[in-house]
Amino acid sequence: MDSIIVRGNGPLNGQIAIAGAKNACLALMPATLLSEEPLTLTNAPRLSDIKTMTELLSSLGAEVSSLQDGKVQAMSSHNLDNHVADYDIVRKMRASNLVLGPMLARLGHAVVSLPGGCAIGARPMDLHIHGLEALGAEIELKDGYLHAKAPRGLKGAEITLGFASVGATENILMAATLAKGTTIINNAAREPEIVDLAKCLSAMGAQIEGAGSERIEVQGVDRLHGATHPVVTDRIELGTYMLAPAICGGEVECLGGRIELVGAFCEKLDEAGISVEETDKGLKVARRNGRVKAVDVVTEPFPGFPTDLQAQMMALMCTAEGTSVLEERIFENRFMHAPELTRMGANIEVHGGTATVHGVERLKGAPVMATDLRASVSLILAAMAAEGETIVNRVYHLDRGYERVEEKLGNLGAHIERVKGG
Ligand code: UD1
Repeated sequence: MDSIIVRGNGPLNGQIAIAGAKNACLALMPATLLSEEPLTLTNAPRLSDIKTMTELLSSLGAEVSSLQDGKVQAMSSHNLDNHVADYDIVRKMRASNLVLGPMLARLGHAVVSLPGGCAIGARPMDLHIHGLEALGAEIELKDGYLHAKAPRGLKGAEITLGFASVGATENILMAATLAKGTTIINNAAREPEIVDLAKCLSAMGAQIEGAGSERIEVQGVDRLHGATHPVVTDRIELGTYMLAPAICGGEVECLGGRIELVGAFCEKLDEAGISVEETDKGLKVARRNGRVKAVDVVTEPFPGFPTDLQAQMMALMCTAEGTSVLEERIFENRFMHAPELTRMGANIEVHGGTATVHGVERLKGAPVMATDLRASVSLILAAMAAEGETIVNRVYHLDRGYERVEEKLGNLGAHIERVKGG
């Protein structure tokens, strides 16, 4: 397994290009299953999670070609000859469950493995299942697999989600595009990735209103056609790299960044004393004079502060002036980065879903272990500002969500290199 070695040094300066959103792309790719005609995604990120989704779609009979060094994914689901999403692929990535809704809508049946336990919490699929059942699907759990069928086709219904789940909204939305009649999703997730999916589905001929609000209305159509769609900017990669100059000092312009993707996060940066300026190419971030101020954070569904930026924000708070309280409300076990940051000299107490961080003057390099995707990058951010050398082990998590991280941060002046593992 590869490791990343970081030597803490001075301020970071320059420009960094933000990729297309991993989480949008992982929902957009299964949309190919809804149509016999080709779907092409541009601005796709080059990540191992995208390769996993490619593997899954190919196993179902879709053709997926990665073009222009992975920036374009050209897909065709003309012949789907398998309707079983196998455990061996699904267990690698929870987003694999997003093939359930589209397969059910197009083929009338689907067998999809449950994703199984995940490091950051239980993450059940009850909301996906109830939503699809409301559309007329019959779903049974057998041997770890969800066996879903809709022998008479799906039928529009009014669904109210108990929680604004991103994945459940996406699965139900995709299924509803081909259901008969009107579907209403109340308490729908409002993330930009939902809006992006709705845009792509609309380009394929779907009739959708209200994406981005808590009520989405879909008029089912008989068939969807082909389309070409650009993937929205990755707001989590954006937020992560906005934190690089915040932690290390300096000034970095994140190309392609937009405030509306990271509004709640920018408010917290402002409170902490970090300046964010809109430019014609993106967002320019700089640390004002002096130490960062401690701020409190509560994670919430969009437009609130994203759980996927909580670990990185904690890295910033480790050297802030004062005490900050970070409350995690989306996942029950998402502080695994805290003990690793503590190994680097941070002062953090975790009680249930709350972490209290007492800022210290400076962190010190140490060997640390990456436990999940966002935790991995939080350790890299912390290491860039720490004194001495940090070795981040088990970085395969990082490659799931950040393309060419050493190159991107290296270009800003960070001392960061990958050591290939056996
Ligand atoms: C997506 C993102 C992930 C992000 C998360 C929350 C993708 C590929 N992943 O994950 O990076 O951290 O949104 O913003 O887009 N839940 C249930 N029952 C369900 C579904 C979810 O109880 O049927 C719970 C989960 O356990 C979790 C919470 O709802 O506690 C949020 O999950 P959800 O919004 O569904 O996240 P994902 O779509 O899995």
